[in-house]
Amino acid sequence: GVLVLNFGSQYVQLIARRIRELGVYSEIIPYWTSAEEIKTKEPYGIILSGGPASVYQEGAPLPDAGIYRLGVPLLGICYGLQVMVHQWGGKVERATRQEYGRARLTIIKRDILFEGLPEEMDVWMSHADKVSSLPEDFEVLAISENSPYAVVRHRELPLYGLQFHPEVSHTPYGKDLLARFLFGICKAPAHWQMGDILKEKIEEIRSQVKGRKVISALSGGVDSTVAAVLTHRAVGDLLECVFVDHGLLRKGELEQVTEAFRKMNLPFRVVSAGKLFLERLRGVEDPEEKRRIIGHTFIEVFEKEAEKIGAQLLLQGTLYPDVVESAGIAGSQVIKSHHNVGGLPEKMNLELLEPLRDMFKDEVRQLGKLLGIPDEILNRHPFPGPGLAIRILGEVKEEDLELLREADYIFVEELKRWGLYHRVWQAFAVLLPVKSVGVMGDQRTYERVIALRAVDSVDGMTADWSRLPYDFLDHVMRRIINEVKGINRVVYDISSKPPATIEWE
Ligand code: XMP
Repeated sequence: GVLVLNFGSQYVQLIARRIRELGVYSEIIPYWTSAEEIKTKEPYGIILSGGPASVYQEGAPLPDAGIYRLGVPLLGICYGLQVMVHQWGGKVERATRQEYGRARLTIIKRDILFEGLPEEMDVWMSHADKVSSLPEDFEVLAISENSPYAVVRHRELPLYGLQFHPEVSHTPYGKDLLARFLFGICKAPAHWQMGDILKEKIEEIRSQVKGRKVISALSGGVDSTVAAVLTHRAVGDLLECVFVDHGLLRKGELEQVTEAFRKMNLPFRVVSAGKLFLERLRGVEDPEEKRRIIGHTFIEVFEKEAEKIGAQLLLQGTLYPDVVESAGIAGSQVIKSHHNVGGLPEKMNLELLEPLRDMFKDEVRQLGKLLGIPDEILNRHPFPGPGLAIRILGEVKEEDLELLREADYIFVEELKRWGLYHRVWQAFAVLLPVKSVGVMGDQRTYERVIALRAVDSVDGMTADWSRLPYDFLDHVMRRIINEVKGINRVVYDISSKPPATIEWE
């Protein structure tokens, strides 16, 4: 495959992913891997990732210079370019005009790397250092306004360098450039498929588990389900799954999820802890306090189960974006503390097993499909760990949970019936703590309000409200008010994120 030498870039996984998307196997290895070891892997190509360091600073991470003489095509990206230039005797220094974000690239010398691509294109830059003089053996292929050496190559050897990031989606032709490198320069055969990833993951899981017991918390969501089915495939009944019913589930959810797990032959146990959660939540109104209580109670319940089982490993459906977002954001403000039901703390003294941590959501869905997981699980809307508790504003009461369950069920059922469920990213009902006056059959009513929320999003980080048809909303309003006792008003939430968030608490 293609080896990606990791110099600590935020995007290193993205590089590997793009290569895999192009059907070529890729592997991320530490930058200090020796040229000899790299040679034994017989790679089609080598990529030097970006990274936060400066080549001129003391102790800067440098690869084994032998890699340039293996006869293997090499592509340096950002820091990877700078490192190559530095090792070949060129000069890199702090740029007076740094480049972050979009830049216009102009090709000044045609090369196989640019085959079929336009003379000018937008690229995404993110660097503080720049090459100030090129080694003699190198030549310039493209420039940008602030980078006279935006794309360079060795005059004879297949060594290339890009100052920008071809792996990010903001470089529209980035994937094409990588494809030219892989197929035009490395001559890599494209045959890597999800099936190979599956085989590889199974091997990895087996070699980490080594006959020990694994416990997993199922949530009914895509990630924890795929992680569990995959692990079950790898180590069989060494895996035990626990589904904690915190009493904050939606109508019919426990039955539906139980049925699905059963069909997939997953060994799992339901722990009914609804009473405990509700007791702990009694009288609590503050959203963060509610989340904290639910998170802690969850851990407590789950820890007991792990002990019973004698598990030594904890399976988590952590995805790559979770890894990136939770790293390096120290000091950023807590908007909401997300207690992902899958996200148990490391303090549990269990070794973490995270087979999906280098994957993106859509890859996980593909993997799930290959594992035979039914579509109704793979394409479910996200559901937050704290469940309906954060959709009842203020104190969570048993009878309000019932109200919300009914209203939410109607909304989602109708979305499915109207063929709209998969057109929105997430949809749900929220129960508001206010009462308003209404009139029903000549009678004055003074009852509660349901807010409907439906959003379009890609990753939940930003979102816009879904433009659902008026007739549909009208129909849902009618059903909720007619069928759910205690509700006399329905409103539709038209806030985007930001400034609002998707959930109301
Ligand atoms: P917000 O409300 O922060 O939600 O815009 C973004 C996405 O995250 C989900 N969400 C959670 N998921 N545990 C979870 O597992 C949580 O505590 C949590 N809070 C919000 C939310 O449903 C939306 O998809």
